[in-house]
Amino acid sequence: MPKYTLTVNGQQKTVEVAEDTPLLWVLRDTLHLYGTKYGCGMAQCGACTVHFNGQAIRSCVMPISALEGAKITTIEGLAPANGLHPVQKAWDDTDVPQCGYCQAGQIMTAVAFLKETPNPTDEQIAGAMSGNICRCGTYHRINEAIKLAVKYSKK
Ligand code: FES
Ligand code: FES
Repeated sequence: MPKYTLTVNGQQKTVEVAEDTPLLWVLRDTLHLYGTKYGCGMAQCGACTVHFNGQAIRSCVMPISALEGAKITTIEGLAPANGLHPVQKAWDDTDVPQCGYCQAGQIMTAVAFLKETPNPTDEQIAGAMSGNICRCGTYHRINEAIKLAVKYSKK
């Protein structure tokens, strides 16, 4: 099988998997990073969202063959060494999660969005997060947490 080298959460990794293996399964099955979740496998729910060179992508439909040399960040690599990312802190302070299954994808989507849009309107937040499904219906708290994260980012 071919080998691919990419940087995951700041560490260079070489994996030997079939070229059409989705990144999600490389992360979970090969690299044992279980924070990124499988929901639909069809780019429809957002549970598998990670960052590819800083952009939010759906890892369930991203083949490893497209990622040679890429920089990938997962939920495990988001926090700085000395604490939480401001979005994680806002999530915690807002008690966003219910079952938690969708939340890594929600947070990764929110972080990439706020990087591009540091002072979002309610409509922009709603638009950016509309593709991330939460079966528990935590949408209201997600919106509140994003607004709190904006405040934390300015401190
Ligand atoms: S598992 Fe990737 S978008 Fe649903
Ligand atoms: S917190 Fe349960 S699916 Fe979102």
